[in-house]
Amino acid sequence: TFVIAQPCVDVKDKACIEACPVDCIYEGERSLYIHPDECVDCGACDPVCPVEAIFYVDDVPDEWAEYTRANVEFFSELGSPLGAVSLGNTGRDHPFIAALTPQNQ
Ligand code: F3S
Ligand code: F3S
Repeated sequence: TFVIAQPCVDVKDKACIEACPVDCIYEGERSLYIHPDECVDCGACDPVCPVEAIFYVDDVPDEWAEYTRANVEFFSELGSPLGAVSLGNTGRDHPFIAALTPQNQ
């Protein structure tokens, strides 16, 4: 899977959404999250993010390791909706991201 890390928080450019062929990039209030089971590792989202927030899971920088967990745990309540665009903004965030001070302003 791929992971969305710190540079996305409070930016949410959303170019990644258009690029994903399986519609597995879900919107939260302050960040987007890639569904670890729905992502097919095509990598199309990675180069289109203008702030370079997206990493292959094994390449997430150490200081952003917590974002790997956040991209998994974000779905513990949502499950596998199999379609992010129709779901829209979920209005929620992983608690770790919800608690961050304003980022990337
Ligand atoms: Fe965020 Fe980059 Fe997508 S800023 S919404 S990961 S294009
Ligand atoms: Fe979609 Fe990116 Fe995975 S484009 S399939 S979330 S690698």
